[in-house]
Amino acid sequence: MEFSDIEDAELVIIAGQSWFLSPSIPLQSFFLDGRVRSYLHNRDVIFVNACRNMWLMTARQIKSYTREIGARLVGHIVFQDNHKNLISALTIVRWLMFNEKGSNFLLPEAGVSKKDIDSARCFGNVISDAYANNTVDNLQEELLKKGAIGGGNRPS
Ligand SMILES: Cc1cc2nc3c(=O)[nH]c(=O)nc-3n(C[C@H](O)[C@H](O)[C@H](O)COP(=O)(O)O)c2cc1C
Repeated sequence: MEFSDIEDAELVIIAGQSWFLSPSIPLQSFFLDGRVRSYLHNRDVIFVNACRNMWLMTARQIKSYTREIGARLVGHIVFQDNHKNLISALTIVRWLMFNEKGSNFLLPEAGVSKKDIDSARCFGNVISDAYANNTVDNLQEELLKKGAIGGGNRPS
């Protein structure tokens, strides 16, 4: 990995999945790579977690990676499947095994809804305001007001 064109970045937004209650293997590999670790040192990080609905241990692990690296975790945004647990267990397996993501007569579409993906821009505005106004310390609070975790207040 080569970071020369983003050497002046103050904030790094890292997106990745949860697998088996942990950061996915690609995400773990990313955080364990020496070049990534030295790049992230002394930078702000926002973690965007795509998952089914079980992200707590992933969040803890990301917190511990960023602490080890000397990066500052300033935000955490979760995009999750909003269907009931058993339903999303079925749809994710159907997606994984048969590449069938869409809804059918029995099951809804797998994964994060298009509505949630489309609403993601609201977080961009909050993040850019925080950097423009030098209020990054309160960024997570502002993200939460927009439904960054749980999705409650996300605009449609
Ligand atoms: C093998 C596997 C394990 C998973 N484990 C979890 C999990 O522990 N918690 C969770 O919330 N989602 C879990 N999921 C759902 C994934 O996070 C979800 O499929 C992913 O966000 C979709 O992103 P992708 O298309 O980049 O894989 C798992 C998915 C797979 C395929």
